[in-house]
Amino acid sequence: MREKQIKSNKPIGIFDSGFGGLTVMSAISKLLPKENLIYFGDSAHVPYGSKSKKVVTNFTVNISKFLESKGVKLIVVACNTASAFSLNTLKKVINVPMIGVIEAGSVVALQNTKNKKIGVIGTEGTVKSNAYAKEIKKHDRKINCFSKACPLFVPLVEEGWNKGKITEEIINVYLKELVNKKIDTLILGCTHYPLLKGSIQKVIGKKIKIIDSATAIAMAVKNLLKKNNQLKNFGSGKYEFYVSDDPEKFKNLGSKFFDKKINKVIKVEL
Ligand code: DGL
Repeated sequence: MREKQIKSNKPIGIFDSGFGGLTVMSAISKLLPKENLIYFGDSAHVPYGSKSKKVVTNFTVNISKFLESKGVKLIVVACNTASAFSLNTLKKVINVPMIGVIEAGSVVALQNTKNKKIGVIGTEGTVKSNAYAKEIKKHDRKINCFSKACPLFVPLVEEGWNKGKITEEIINVYLKELVNKKIDTLILGCTHYPLLKGSIQKVIGKKIKIIDSATAIAMAVKNLLKKNNQLKNFGSGKYEFYVSDDPEKFKNLGSKFFDKKINKVIKVEL
């Protein structure tokens, strides 16, 4: 019993290129409010979406080693670009179970599509890697995947332009091609996009089901911890935040992504 408590009391590590992954942390904290969570935002190196696989992988190895040194029981790669580029490498070098957003989002999309036409939107890196389509086709080769990079969405969200005429116009320009392909399911394959969910739904119409990878991964985390007998079922969760640059900026903008006030952020150099 005591051994089980010690195992489950360990925190869950979550990382992203910046604040975006706080949408994932927020979903995990809502589904698993008793879990202790440690977040790392690589604000010195954001954005990952326009960088190469090699560069992103180097950053993420250092972050994962940092989280491992904090004694985490699981690491969640909240960043879609990092999941697409680096998860396989990380699983080889890190001695803690690791889980990424791409597998979780793909599984939920597969459960939802009826006409087998799935749209995926994300950063240039995620779309170029074709990681979602590869993951989806592992489960069902007959699915048609249509992807589109939407590079303006991240700055829109960071500027707080989550709704309004201009935002809807930009969404329409990027997404009309996917709507014309008659997709019935759309994966939001980027940490920032859940904040645009309302506007995206308004533009593409209610018939297309939007899959938010933040919610999908929270469920996957719960299932994995349950399977490993590591769910913490006592007390309330404590949160720690680390960044690689400017803690003040992270505190201010981060509270918007996390839905709760962030009081303390520690800068670390890896
Ligand atoms: N976190 C990134 C992702 O989910 C978006 C921001 C970036 O480009 O770093 O792909």
